[in-house]
Amino acid sequence: MTEAILLVGGKGTRLRPLTVNTPKPMVHAAGVPFLTHQLARARAAGVEHIVLATSYLAEVFEPHFGDGSALGLHLEYVTEEEPLGTGGAIRNVASRLHSGPDDPVLIFNGDILTGLDIRALVATHESSGADVSLHLTRVEDPRAFGLVPTDPTGRVTAFLEKPQTPEEIVTDQINAGAYVFRRSVIDTIPAGRPVSVERETFPDLLAAGAHLQGMVDSTYWLDLGTPQAFVRGSADLVQGRAPSPAVPGRCGDRLVLPTATVAPDAKLTGGTVVGEGATIEAGARVSGSTILTGATIEAGAVITDSLIGAGARVGARTTVTGAVIGDGAHVGADNELRDGVRVWCDAILPNRSLRFSSDQ
Ligand code: GDD
Ligand code: MG
Repeated sequence: MTEAILLVGGKGTRLRPLTVNTPKPMVHAAGVPFLTHQLARARAAGVEHIVLATSYLAEVFEPHFGDGSALGLHLEYVTEEEPLGTGGAIRNVASRLHSGPDDPVLIFNGDILTGLDIRALVATHESSGADVSLHLTRVEDPRAFGLVPTDPTGRVTAFLEKPQTPEEIVTDQINAGAYVFRRSVIDTIPAGRPVSVERETFPDLLAAGAHLQGMVDSTYWLDLGTPQAFVRGSADLVQGRAPSPAVPGRCGDRLVLPTATVAPDAKLTGGTVVGEGATIEAGARVSGSTILTGATIEAGAVITDSLIGAGARVGARTTVTGAVIGDGAHVGADNELRDGVRVWCDAILPNRSLRFSSDQ
């Protein structure tokens, strides 16, 4: 049996002001809390036991996922009193693992949407005999990630977290946030204090001559660090670009959840999700967007690549592009909201308050 640790800590503040009291892993993507996709994908790859290592708003996970049996999993929860960092969080749950010292243990960052072939990563780990194996992906701008150069055999030669200088950017291969650790390696991480696996554990292991193996591929991969990425990821799940067994219903251009109301002439495209109890009124056009539970899009509004929070309302003829509207906010009629704007939860924007276009 393969077991896994899912890291779902961190501050999770980057989705604010969309969600004040909902940690990012619980924000819905393609109709279910994002974390469901990671859990379901792990299960589909044969993982049966998962320990959730949490530090922030941890109390929301267990009431929702329970013992994991609904997903065919045995789930356990461990909450840190103070955030222990990625390495500290892994070490902190070691006592919950059932694996023997040489067994492979999977570890996942909790904010990644990917088509990773999990079984292939474990197979790479076993055939290479590595101490730790890492999923790597290539990105255009690697500065926000951990850089992982490898030799021609795939063996990791360095780990450079968030490079600061141009000289440090030695590769476009980055840490994609999924690892296989040999169980006994987890036990070497110091206990009881914050440890960063990226800044401390990996560099120390390399310095000590340990074998870290990289598996580079070009499968779907997205870090959900920003609301824009979150909306993109949700749309990709709905359209089937990002594979997940947890998407409710068939993949297609739109996902309308039960109890949502959509006017017959409203147009929903580009992987749009309409949440439970949400309303899309006549003539509205919604593309590539996520409309959360109970939100209302009034007649003739045009929503593109945006996240509309739970219970929020977007007024008639208002256009919203690349924006985040917080839970419970009311945006009046005939407004124009553009790229990057975030409306706070419960804020009220009167009719005809904002526009970008010039006078006709
Ligand atoms: N339990 C717990 N405790 N989890 C934590 C803690 C903590 O103190 N700190 C971070 N995590 C979790 C986060 O919730 C996330 O799921 C994961 O560990 C990675 O932390 P982030 O804060 O999201 O790191 P990052 O996105 O800046 O960088 C990481 O991910 C990149 C890929 O997206 C690094 O692993 C990079 O090397 C990597 O390239
Ligand atoms: Mg992250």
